[in-house]
Amino acid sequence: HGTSKINEEGHLEIGGVDTITLAKEYGTPLYIYDVALIKDRANSFKMAFENMGVSAQVAYASKAFSSIAMFQLIDELGLSLDVVSGGELFTAITSGFPASRIHLHGNNKSRSELKMALEHGVGCIVVDNFYEISLLEELSKGNSKQVPVLLRVTPGVEAHTHDYITTGQEDSKFGFGLLNGQIEQAIEAVLKSEGIHLLGIHCHIGSQIFDTAGFVLAAERVFEKINTWREKFSFTPEVVNLGGGFGIRYTEEDEPLPATYYVEQIVEAVKKQVNEMGINMPEIWIEPGRSLVGDAGTTLYTVGSQKTVPNIREYVAIDGGMSDNIRPALYQAKYEAVLANRVAEKHDRPVSIAGKCCESGDMLIWDLPLPEVKPEDILAVFCTGAYGYSMANNYNRIPRPAVVFVENGESQLVIKRESFEDLIANDLPLKSKVSQN
Ligand code: LLP
Repeated sequence: HGTSKINEEGHLEIGGVDTITLAKEYGTPLYIYDVALIKDRANSFKMAFENMGVSAQVAYASKAFSSIAMFQLIDELGLSLDVVSGGELFTAITSGFPASRIHLHGNNKSRSELKMALEHGVGCIVVDNFYEISLLEELSKGNSKQVPVLLRVTPGVEAHTHDYITTGQEDSKFGFGLLNGQIEQAIEAVLKSEGIHLLGIHCHIGSQIFDTAGFVLAAERVFEKINTWREKFSFTPEVVNLGGGFGIRYTEEDEPLPATYYVEQIVEAVKKQVNEMGINMPEIWIEPGRSLVGDAGTTLYTVGSQKTVPNIREYVAIDGGMSDNIRPALYQAKYEAVLANRVAEKHDRPVSIAGKCCESGDMLIWDLPLPEVKPEDILAVFCTGAYGYSMANNYNRIPRPAVVFVENGESQLVIKRESFEDLIANDLPLKSKVSQN
């Protein structure tokens, strides 16, 4: 997929660059992003809205993968940005991303995070709870400009990968209950607050979703409520943000629709309701993460030790694991992979790929068909672009990998590999014996 292909040497090539050359140049584990594919995904989302004649904002959910260069790319592509913490906001501002296109999320934003957001003038704050409303009232007191906010609702629709369930009690840590009166209380509080401007409503039903029904049902529930708020509060949202969550293909078990198809289905449902209600179409915002970067990412590892458990299993260990990709250990997530230095060879001998962390659960892929594996072979794991590097950690004091962007035959380092010195940068030695007495 994307710009991946097998080159003349039988190596995996991405963005016109030989991955074996990348492994030599930057070392492994290495995250590689196919920039052309990210651009393609971003443009298809924008085009989908344009073709339907709907004004929209596509905000990249940066929790999927963030870095200064990534934010610069997202800015160039004209997308907005969803950040969920002071750290993501700081990275975005430092990258030069225009604050007016940044949306701040989070179920427990601190006073200092909110203050930082207001000082920079972010485009909107997605308000999650009553405490946050009171903090914003306090922080916006005396300001000349009102804080634009969306109120996040829990629509009582919970989507899973292959289906969705609707929960009566809206049992989630996020947002105001849509069906239990909480959202009406929140709307009242914000409408009478001088410092806050109620721009609209937000909902997000889950991640890695394949079925359109959950999205459509959530949108329908939100718009049914909007209909009642017109009379109750004379309030019609200028913006309705329907979140992210569009699924991607990790393995052949996954059968997602093209991400833009979800958008079309949702917008069609919304258009129908808006027409019935006789209101203006609000701006529709979405915030995809995984579907923008997931399949653009590939991780390279170097094969090391192997172990045979007679008659049961062959283990092949690589130089990374749950420290750079925790998804298999955390969610039993599945991936496909090939030997990047011998892609053209038959991949028909199942082995199980083990990480190097001191934990039995650190298994990256079970029963992966590969050619006969030798030490120093390079394993390429596909679709690691979302929630891979961003959830990487230093378990066992393993340094986080490097990240490169590839495009048109060129590679560019965008995150340096952590060094051992980086690992101890915040460590302080034990106090001297004198002061302990
Ligand atoms: N908007 C909100 C409010 C969200 O909570 C999320 C994801 C997104 C947008 C983006 O969703 P996406 O389009 O990426 O599915 N770590 C998990 C995924 C956690 C998703 C959290 N929220 C994983 O590795 O599968």
